[in-house]
Amino acid sequence: MNEQQQQVVAALLATWQHQPGALLPLLHAIQDALGWVPEDVVPQLSQALNLSRAEVVGVISFYHDFRTQPPAAHSLRVCMAESCQVAGAEALSALAGQQLGIREGETADGQWQVRLVYCLGACACSPALQLDGQLHVQVTPERLTQLLASSREGV
Ligand code: FES
Repeated sequence: MNEQQQQVVAALLATWQHQPGALLPLLHAIQDALGWVPEDVVPQLSQALNLSRAEVVGVISFYHDFRTQPPAAHSLRVCMAESCQVAGAEALSALAGQQLGIREGETADGQWQVRLVYCLGACACSPALQLDGQLHVQVTPERLTQLLASSREGV
């Protein structure tokens, strides 16, 4: 963590430290503020909340939404649940991997992370995916190609 990140964490700790059950909300607050939960916060949280380091690491690793690496510049989440699978999600996932040159869960130079998810809540308009937090539905391979190109160009 750099100095600025340390200050952010210290401020969040000061806010949450004395509240019961503070670990989970603190971890969310840290991830919201920094974009991820750096490993360096474990000793700080452990000491401030009077928990063992193993307890803190256990909570971070149990909840898959916590990122322990800085996030990629772009994120693509492709729905692979039943309705989207029937509508061609596997082909979209394969196409995304091919166009970005990365596999699921990987980042390429910190630029992209592609994850398979199981329902984005848009089953009636399958196949669905989420690009940089924005939901897209009834996505065709052509549309996916356009979306990825626009994202690369920062459009
Ligand atoms: S099955 Fe894909 S959005 Fe629900």
